Amino acid sequence: MGQAKKVVLAYSGGVDTSVCIPYLKEKYGVEEVIAFAADLGQGDELEPIRVKALDAGASDSIVGDLIKPFVEEFAFPAIRTNALYEGRYPLSTALARPLIARRLVELAKELGADAVAHGCTGKGNDQVRFDVAIAALAPHLKVLTPAREWGMSREETIAYGELFGIPAPVTKKSPYSIDLNLLGRSIEAGSLEDPMVAPPEEVFAMTCSIAQAPDAAEEIELGFEFGNPVSINGVILEPVKLIDQLNKLAGKHGFGRLDIIENRVVGIKSREIYETPGLLLLIRAHQELESLTLSADVLQTKVQLERKWADLVYQGLWFTPLKEAIDAFIDKTQIDVNGVVKIRLHKGNAVVVGRSSSINSLYIPSMATYGKEDEFNHKAAEGFIYVWGLPSRLWASNKRK
Ligand code: ARG
Repeated sequence: MGQAKKVVLAYSGGVDTSVCIPYLKEKYGVEEVIAFAADLGQGDELEPIRVKALDAGASDSIVGDLIKPFVEEFAFPAIRTNALYEGRYPLSTALARPLIARRLVELAKELGADAVAHGCTGKGNDQVRFDVAIAALAPHLKVLTPAREWGMSREETIAYGELFGIPAPVTKKSPYSIDLNLLGRSIEAGSLEDPMVAPPEEVFAMTCSIAQAPDAAEEIELGFEFGNPVSINGVILEPVKLIDQLNKLAGKHGFGRLDIIENRVVGIKSREIYETPGLLLLIRAHQELESLTLSADVLQTKVQLERKWADLVYQGLWFTPLKEAIDAFIDKTQIDVNGVVKIRLHKGNAVVVGRSSSINSLYIPSMATYGKEDEFNHKAAEGFIYVWGLPSRLWASNKRK
């Protein structure tokens, strides 16, 4: 295994990834570290982050705007799939990782780097997602993972950084570990490590508390085309804007908070707080539109594949043949998912109160009605039920013998 001379590092601006820069040079013999910071709509100022990497000794520092592909190629497929890991977590962090990995690999090729690097620790899911995605895209590319190997405590990491002019965090360090992007925030650690301690209000930034949410309910209409969200209240919006607006709308009403115990890939359970207002709302609305427009058997089969898709994405298996095959099934089903869903937002709730599809609705009023327009053939039910119930009848009479 030859030494890597030129490395592209996934860079966030935090202490760990900053310390990775001198550490890679000193301990791994890397000559050039090129920092790459991704804009995923997290709202951070990226210019200071770019400069920070140079100050830490990077030979070059690149900021990449990935927000559009993030929404269109990663968030929208998750909405079409109604993807919820373990039935609850909408994968807001997990979805970003294969995209960052893809860009790292592209940059390594463009810049002639012989390795990529990230600052994930050995306990989380993100290391799994980066390493596996990189392996799938560039099987022979080396991945350097200093933070998984250095064995330094947080204090030691800060002290090591100071030796190389990396300033210790000036603001009183928040006890929480936070990841954020346009789709949401995940908050871990600090007092949250006790699963019995309620999350303090200070951990939230995208959603307000139920107490502070407006007293008046607000009704909104979300429009979908081919399973993709396209409009709010009849106004067509481009994907990034749409998610951003929904985050604000749903967040204002206190919708989109999760407090869950989650099973990590590495075998441990962790307590996770999330706020993902727009994404959760879109999934809920999308599920509703599917119940109107997809046949019963397609829905039942899709639900099973949704669960599998969410597992694959959570577990770092984005770039795999199974994931692609499930995508093909999902895409086929979404041709029929066109219409609008009406939702009432109120005090932490998002209640579906209406749905319609002018071309794909399988809800047939003349079949459903109890009024005089009823066209359902009631007499035909008798023969159907006789055959349907025949196995039960035969089994019961046999038992009585
Ligand atoms: N548990 C979530 C996930 O696995 C959130 C991970 C947060 N990552 C982080 N580096 N803070 O997707």
